Amino acid sequence: MKERKRILIVFGTRPEAIKMAPLVKEFEKNSTSFETKVCVTAQHREMLDQVLNFFDIHADYDLDLMKPNQNLYSLTSDIISNLKPVLEDFKPDYVFVHGDTTTTMATSIAGFYFGAQICHVEAGLRTYNMQSPFPEEMNRTVTGVVTNIHFSPTLTSKQNLLLENKKEANILVTGNTVIDALLYSVKKVNSNNFIDKEIEGLKELVELNKKIILVTGHRRENHGQGFINICEALKQIAIEYPDCQIIYPVHLNPNVQKPVYELLGNIENIKLISPLSYPSFVWLMEKSYLIITDSGGVQEEAPSLGKPVLVMRETTERPEAVEAGTVLLVGTNPSKIIYEALRLLKDKEVYNSMSMLHNPYGDGSACKQIVNHLLG
Ligand code: UD1
Ligand code: UDP
Repeated sequence: MKERKRILIVFGTRPEAIKMAPLVKEFEKNSTSFETKVCVTAQHREMLDQVLNFFDIHADYDLDLMKPNQNLYSLTSDIISNLKPVLEDFKPDYVFVHGDTTTTMATSIAGFYFGAQICHVEAGLRTYNMQSPFPEEMNRTVTGVVTNIHFSPTLTSKQNLLLENKKEANILVTGNTVIDALLYSVKKVNSNNFIDKEIEGLKELVELNKKIILVTGHRRENHGQGFINICEALKQIAIEYPDCQIIYPVHLNPNVQKPVYELLGNIENIKLISPLSYPSFVWLMEKSYLIITDSGGVQEEAPSLGKPVLVMRETTERPEAVEAGTVLLVGTNPSKIIYEALRLLKDKEVYNSMSMLHNPYGDGSACKQIVNHLLG
């Protein structure tokens, strides 16, 4: 019997888990060709476990590294040193990493030290500004340096890699695996036997007779004054447009929790809630009128759902949805956020022009294409 290729899939945070879950499933379907193991760094804990539960993924290795209010220095070194015994135990031929977190960058370095082929999923996103997003632009650039096979979501991201002199033969454009995850989740949530306590709870909380504004935020460069500005803007929107309801699942990072609960804790039409599991979040996105966020993943999901997004960042590495008109960059200047949100709430024509359905991030076949590429 032909020896199977050993695949180690490593991730650590919520978005990596969402976007790698369908890839784990796809490799598992091909178990005659691949021996696949999952290693979680657990850079996130609760928010990672929510995803593992929903997709029914069991980690073969769990480094359990998250510490309260962790810092980049110790997280990076802990990931590299704790991966050594995992790599030496499983001896992977290929190490798969995703995106641009500290887990991504540190794992790609550890995998390189071990001598495995590094496969980077969601490769080639760039803003060309090392401070925005921080430290993600550095993370993905460094990962790209040690990557052997780049799986790019779009032609634009492939183009970025070609500009860095990466060989064209080592780049495959697949679409983004987030669409695979989204389609899987929408199907599962809409199936008759799916009952979810969290969604039932949301049905009680969400006032569907109002315009629902869904908010998320966590970017490090927005910590401090950025979040104070964001909260000020949300408060003003809630006051000026009482017929909206703002639902904000607050990221567990203490640098986000503290200002958000202090500044928005007692406002009638703003509901602060815990981070939602992926199916509940997808349910809520579908029910929303407008999304205000600094998230990367949400910018990719929203066009497929036809939801306008105001992005509270100065730059984006995801120009496709901006070009298509679904996403508008508003930064963290309160007056800009308030102006654009009120325009979308009040002006139907502006709203319609931003709520077209389209799929710049693929058709949900990214994971199949990645596995087929390795099957050769
Ligand atoms: C991280 C990633 C960021 C990614 C984001 C997705 C880095 C440097 N940052 O940012 O690229 O976009 O995840 O959400 O890789 N915490 C919990 N429970 C959890 C998760 C986080 O309590 O399940 C708290 C902990 O106190 C932790 C802190 O949040 O120390 C920060 O987590 P960390 O992963 O370092 O940064 P994020 O802001 O989550
Ligand atoms: N998400 C979720 N629950 C939430 C908020 C977001 O499941 O309460 C999902 C969202 O659909 C997207 C991903 O988490 O797929 C985005 O994660 P995040 O914004 O933390 O990270 P980023 O994408 O900015 O790296």
